Amino acid sequence: MPDVIARLDDVSLYYGDRVILKNCSLDVVEGAITCIIGLSGAGKSTILRLLDGLRKPDVGHVYIRDIDICHISETHLNDVRRTISLSFQFAALLDSLTVGDNVALPLREHTHLSDSEIQKIVVDALDSVGLAHTYDSMPSELSGGMLKRAGFARAIVTRPELILYDEPTTGLDPIVTHLITDTIVRLRQKLNGTAVVISHDLQSIYMMADYVAMLFEGAIIAYGTVDEIKRSPNPIVQQFIQGSEVGPIPI
Ligand SMILES: Nc1ncnc2c1ncn2[C@@H]1O[C@H](COP(=O)(O)OP(=O)(O)OP(=O)(O)O)[C@@H](O)[C@H]1O
Ligand SMILES: [Mg+2]
Repeated sequence: MPDVIARLDDVSLYYGDRVILKNCSLDVVEGAITCIIGLSGAGKSTILRLLDGLRKPDVGHVYIRDIDICHISETHLNDVRRTISLSFQFAALLDSLTVGDNVALPLREHTHLSDSEIQKIVVDALDSVGLAHTYDSMPSELSGGMLKRAGFARAIVTRPELILYDEPTTGLDPIVTHLITDTIVRLRQKLNGTAVVISHDLQSIYMMADYVAMLFEGAIIAYGTVDEIKRSPNPIVQQFIQGSEVGPIPI
């Protein structure tokens, strides 16, 4: 059995009367890339917020390793959260700081490294997303796609054990999409880190995923390798990955 680094255990979550997640369970395998797919509004970003301890479920448990992060002190939760990095769907850099200083922020906050050590790591992180030349630029000088990549560099700069990427390639051109997808794969290899990636881009999912989980109507209805998902007999999965208007998914 592979090691599980994070687990949603029978989680339900509501916003008012609306059920977002219902008896939802998911194991995140250590050292693997798990991609979550599902319709817009299905609750994918919510799952990342649960894994990062930003939200608590109404019912059920969320584990990071063996720690039930819904029932620990704030201090303990902060310690656990230091090993996790969430790269937001709409990551924003601080306008008043250079790109380099933005990426350096988590290192300045959470480590005691010297300025020259920090600079080296930041240059390396920016280089891994093809943005080394923007170190001294202000965010306002970057395109939307470049800002997204800079946010991505900031998320990986502390080399977290678990990285949660919310739509890392949405809105990027095919070449940058490939660069980011490749970076996620390389980071996993280099750090033996674990990643959970939410994406609507099936091509990059097929390129990077060790496991794919499909979220539908509040629960994970299919889970497996890329091949297993492609061959899934579940008509909901088939309709989704084929992008068909015809099938059981209500449109
Ligand atoms: N703070 C909130 N208050 C009320 N409803 C919310 C809140 N946050 C999210 N929701 C609702 O919960 C549902 C799931 O949201 P979530 O952002 O997790 O979806 P998603 O799968 O990430 O969608 P997308 O693919 O569009 O990013 C949505 O219907 C959304 O409207
Ligand atoms: Mg989302």
